[in-house]
Amino acid sequence: MDAGAGHGRGFEDVADRWLRWARTPEHDAYWDYRDRFFDEIVPPPGRRTLEIGCGEGRTSRDLRSRGHHLVATDVSPTLVGHAQQADPGGRYQVADSTRLPFADGEFDLVVAYMVLMDVEDMPAAVREAARVLGPSGRFCIGVTHPLADSGSFESHKDDARFVIEGSYLEPRRIEVPVERGGLAFTFTGWAYPLEAYARAFESAGLLIESLREPPRPDRTRERTAGESRWRRIPNFLFLRCIKSGG
Ligand SMILES: C[S@@+](CC[C@H](N)C(=O)[O-])C[C@H]1O[C@@H](n2cnc3c(N)ncnc32)[C@H](O)[C@@H]1O
Repeated sequence: MDAGAGHGRGFEDVADRWLRWARTPEHDAYWDYRDRFFDEIVPPPGRRTLEIGCGEGRTSRDLRSRGHHLVATDVSPTLVGHAQQADPGGRYQVADSTRLPFADGEFDLVVAYMVLMDVEDMPAAVREAARVLGPSGRFCIGVTHPLADSGSFESHKDDARFVIEGSYLEPRRIEVPVERGGLAFTFTGWAYPLEAYARAFESAGLLIESLREPPRPDRTRERTAGESRWRRIPNFLFLRCIKSGG
């Protein structure tokens, strides 16, 4: 089995493997889902946008090409280096999302795409995002769907049964090895129930404004076996929150 991401170091220990996975054209699910995230969740550029967990920077480059004045951060120095190299004019910085090196209210938008389920102290990352947002600031989030994280399909068939393993309600460590197209990556993180996210938003003073459960786009030919099962069960969850009291 290949190495997964290390605790507290983000993807630092698997940075090269992630770089290949994320930068191989059309390889990752990112390319199937990003339009819905940007079109339905992310508001138009405002004063200043912060991205947490930017990785090698594909989300950051997409935000910048849409006109966002962006500071992008990640806990992995290697990935921040690659992000900066790919976008020399952008601002990339090493930072842990649970201890952001920014003042209160510095941003009007924080984006966390496929990050929060990788953070052990997820409520601390949500609290920090809320802290650096100004009044009525938005927090836009993409995570693997709590339902998808709670179990697995029994087979690759379109109508395969989805089986919940253990308790959906208990946050727990997960490790999902994925292999396709000659590339392998083990996605590790925490399976949080929806309520864990909702409680973190509540106690950080964030109100859910929009929620989407995008199905996998319908394609005439599957790129990976079993892909179309994800038209019945949501693979990802997108949310936009607003900082209350603004
Ligand atoms: C699945 S990748 C997503 C990267 C990027 N958002 C994208 O979609 O391409 C998750 C990223 O979160 C970062 N990460 C994990 N824990 C973190 C933390 N506590 N603070 C900041 N970044 C973290 C990892 O280093 C990794 O780059």
